[in-house]
Amino acid sequence: MKPNMKHLCVFLLVLFCPVTVIPSVYGRKFHRSCKKHHNSRYSESCKSTTIFNILSFGAKANGVSDDSKKLVAAWKAACKVGGGTLQIPSDHKFLIKPVTLQGPCMAHVVFQIDGTLLAPSKIGSWSKSNLYQWINFKWVQNITIQGSGAIDGQGYNWWAPIESKQASLDIKPTALRFYASEDIVVRDITIKNSPQVHLKFDNSHGVKVSNVTVLAPGNSPNTDGIHLQNTRDVEILHSNIETGDDCVSIQTGCSNVHIHHINCGPGHGISIGGLGKDKSIACVSDIVVENSNIQDTLYGVRIKTWQGGLGLVKNITFSNIQVANVNFPIVINQYYCDKSFCKNETGSIAIKEVMFDKITGSYSTQPIHLACSKDIPCTEINLSDIQLNPSRRPLEGSQLQQALCYNSYGYSNGQLVPSSVNYCLKKEGGGGSVNQISTLSNELC
Ligand SMILES: *[C@@H]1O[C@H](CO)[C@@H](O)[C@H](O)[C@H]1NC(C)=O
Ligand SMILES: *[C@@H]1O[C@H](CO)[C@@H](O)[C@H](O)[C@H]1NC(C)=O
Ligand SMILES: *[C@@H]1O[C@H](CO)[C@@H](O)[C@H](O)[C@H]1NC(C)=O
Ligand SMILES: *[C@@H]1O[C@H](CO)[C@@H](O)[C@H](O)[C@H]1NC(C)=O
Ligand SMILES: *[C@@H]1O[C@H](CO)[C@@H](O)[C@H](O)[C@H]1NC(C)=O
Repeated sequence: MKPNMKHLCVFLLVLFCPVTVIPSVYGRKFHRSCKKHHNSRYSESCKSTTIFNILSFGAKANGVSDDSKKLVAAWKAACKVGGGTLQIPSDHKFLIKPVTLQGPCMAHVVFQIDGTLLAPSKIGSWSKSNLYQWINFKWVQNITIQGSGAIDGQGYNWWAPIESKQASLDIKPTALRFYASEDIVVRDITIKNSPQVHLKFDNSHGVKVSNVTVLAPGNSPNTDGIHLQNTRDVEILHSNIETGDDCVSIQTGCSNVHIHHINCGPGHGISIGGLGKDKSIACVSDIVVENSNIQDTLYGVRIKTWQGGLGLVKNITFSNIQVANVNFPIVINQYYCDKSFCKNETGSIAIKEVMFDKITGSYSTQPIHLACSKDIPCTEINLSDIQLNPSRRPLEGSQLQQALCYNSYGYSNGQLVPSSVNYCLKKEGGGGSVNQISTLSNELC
């Protein structure tokens, strides 16, 4: 490089990346050579990686002292810089109280977790005004969370019925939440033992979760793996989810969600809903769940709605799902109820265009359970290549039940085992009232 070129380069850096060249006591900076990039100016030269290690911000890293303020300070620094990386180094543990890491940031931020973030384990050390979540990303765009480390919610006390009753708290925290955010990548990390939901996205779009591990004991209550609400354009892939509740839960306002190559179980399977609680409106569409394994779970793939809701669930595909020792592999339940008794209400969310394709393996209670609303039948429900055999390990004392389809219309084709699946659906039609109701649902959604 000619000397004058070098000067030009430095000049451009100063001109276009004023933040990165301000000397920082915290940031270790690696400016890329601008040799190749001198004429692409801002975009390339600002991609220099600037690492903000939480240790440089004075974190104690002993897993006992509260490092929350240090985390927030490191976040703010990384957020201000184009291409900043917030680093949680390996072989260290950081105790973090509930924090909000807020955007928008200058540009793409990387949150590199190689060590462990620990939540407070005693319920009493959570402030009562902040029980919704532990680590809350809010209004962030273009962020990547990655690394070989872990986010550990230490939720044991929240799961114990006596302790959480003593605290008399209805709300339990989600471990990692993204709120009103976009273009988010979460990969490689482990999220475990959340008090409740592990990873939640709400009011967001553009989400990719890959190669993530989510772990909680099979008997921990309400510990959903990944929870989506009012979120669209989502891909969840190559991940392993073992929890006490739904591996993935898709709530109202979600569309264009693609889930594949997931290993799920123990837990309650992959589900859409419960939708329409307290007569609310719910809309879910364009969901694909495919090429996944579900084992030792209560349910496999499921749609659940409460009585009395309004709205529409449509264009849902469950394809190439291998189940093993699953009580109810294929479920639509429009009588969802979390108590022992809920009375039947008039009105229901409509369900249409649902494909169950290549669902194979073993079940331990009932191969298919489609309990559609009395008022609005489920229509265009397709069953193809369903091959489910009794598991060698049925629930103790339980008897196998025949396939059940109530008020469900559609087509079956391909191989169907057990044979009761074959006559389960009513042939397409569904009566004249359906179109009218569907029009209403379409208008709502
Ligand atoms: C975020 O990334 C997307 C896709 O890479 C890009 O189109 C968008 O401009 C970026 N937004 C910001 C705020 O950097
Ligand atoms: C998945 O994540 C682990 C770290 O948890 C990493 O070692 C591995 O390389 C990742 N695999 C892929 C394919 O990225
Ligand atoms: C159904 O959903 C899939 C996946 O999101 C999408 O590709 C397809 O276009 C949708 N079909 C219709 C008819 O909307
Ligand atoms: C609700 O309606 C369904 C379908 O008609 C019926 O099987 C069920 O017993 C009813 N439940 C109650 C609590 O009335
Ligand atoms: C269901 O199968 C029928 C007949 O094979 C087909 O016309 C329809 O498009 C299928 N619907 C869905 C949602 O897959």
